Amino acid sequence: MSSAWDFGPLGVELANNIKNAWWRWLVYERDDIEGIDTCIIQNRLVWKYSGHEATFNDPLVDCRTCKGRFRYDKLDEYHCPKESSTRVGKGKECDLTDPRQFNLMFKTTVGAVSTEDDPSALVYLRPETAQGIFINFKNILETTRRKLPFGIAQIGKSFRNEVTPGNFIFRTREFEQMEMEYFCHPNDAARIHQEWIDAFLQWFKDLGISEKNLKLHEQTSDELAHYAVRCVDILYRFFPERPDEKAQFDELMGIANRTDYDLKQHSKKAVDEHGNRINLDSTEDLSYFDPITQERFYPYCIEPAAGVNRTVLAVMMDAYSEKISERGEKRVILKLKASLAPIKVAVLPLAKNKPEIVSMAKAIKKDLMKNFRTVYDDTAGIGKLYARQDEIGTPFCVTVDHQSLEDNAVTVRDRDTWEQDRINTSQLRDYLNKRLSEK
Ligand code: GAP
Repeated sequence: MSSAWDFGPLGVELANNIKNAWWRWLVYERDDIEGIDTCIIQNRLVWKYSGHEATFNDPLVDCRTCKGRFRYDKLDEYHCPKESSTRVGKGKECDLTDPRQFNLMFKTTVGAVSTEDDPSALVYLRPETAQGIFINFKNILETTRRKLPFGIAQIGKSFRNEVTPGNFIFRTREFEQMEMEYFCHPNDAARIHQEWIDAFLQWFKDLGISEKNLKLHEQTSDELAHYAVRCVDILYRFFPERPDEKAQFDELMGIANRTDYDLKQHSKKAVDEHGNRINLDSTEDLSYFDPITQERFYPYCIEPAAGVNRTVLAVMMDAYSEKISERGEKRVILKLKASLAPIKVAVLPLAKNKPEIVSMAKAIKKDLMKNFRTVYDDTAGIGKLYARQDEIGTPFCVTVDHQSLEDNAVTVRDRDTWEQDRINTSQLRDYLNKRLSEK
């Protein structure tokens, strides 16, 4: 269980802000994407037809000497536990078994009377959110009266019994995905695929991630999942400490052309050539009828699939910066885009032993929190309070001082420049609104 991580009070805000940014961009700011939230535990047949039961495997090897277990396709990434300077598979200490296939889906059972060895009770925790979208394709199509092209978006937990989880929240067994399936005519799929690759690369830049730390990777035929004809990964420089530039980058998200594989698989033998239901195991016939061309076909599907946890990690790493204060101390500043920052404004009293200052600061906090996530803090001197907020990425600090009691104005300090503006409290909300939208 060494790589099970919980999000604390700030982490949950950052992750929620990332999810909201993704949802807003795809579901609210476009006219062609619907949202959905499907079950984690689905009928086992979903995973049979999707191909996961047979092929969602990692090849693993054991070392007879050190008893370590490694992914055969990633041997170069591991150091031998016995001979730490040696890559697994390279050192004389390593005596590896032949690779064998290990299915990554977590199993559990449903029903009060089921036992673990009862195959009829076996179910899986979903290893991707995508399948919940495919099996609902027809429901969404009919209830929203959509025409192609259109997309369905979902955010939720997925589970994979990874052979070697690790690197903090980069690879865990329980993680969250933001996936969208964009259905289109097969003739349009290649063009639309490229459009989504370009759009997502830009989206990560718009989240504040610098271009030099992002890269595209065209998957080779060896790397492609069983359902994809083309997949381009967006990589982030997750491992800047590695000497080899190529090894510094790893997958942030994948954008795949899944063709009509999934819709066809789930429709398999559902209907005969006359459209009659012949197999109750299958969902439905998930083909699409175009009323204009009178054509019936299985839509192609373009799938941008991102990890929430990896996006949190990339955003945090990219925002990390250090600055030397006037006193020569090292300060950490998390230069998050304001919309992602867990806290937007901190209200700080300059003197906590002065009741008028404290009550004015608390009143300002109470007013601002209706519009922005605002906190009040008086548990240290002002220098330390500023440093704390810089470190967690709070874009603005509002300080109430003795002068404020006379002129009804406060100091607003900028996280990145440490510059201060004096603002009348009557203008404070508008001022912060404007500055936050620019940051
Ligand atoms: N439906 C397609 C799909 O699931 P994937 O490339 O296997 O594609 C998509 O997963 C994204 O989910 C990855 O790019 C990554 O960001 C995230 N992800 C996958 N496995 C993960 C894990 N074990 N831990 C954290 N994130 C993971």
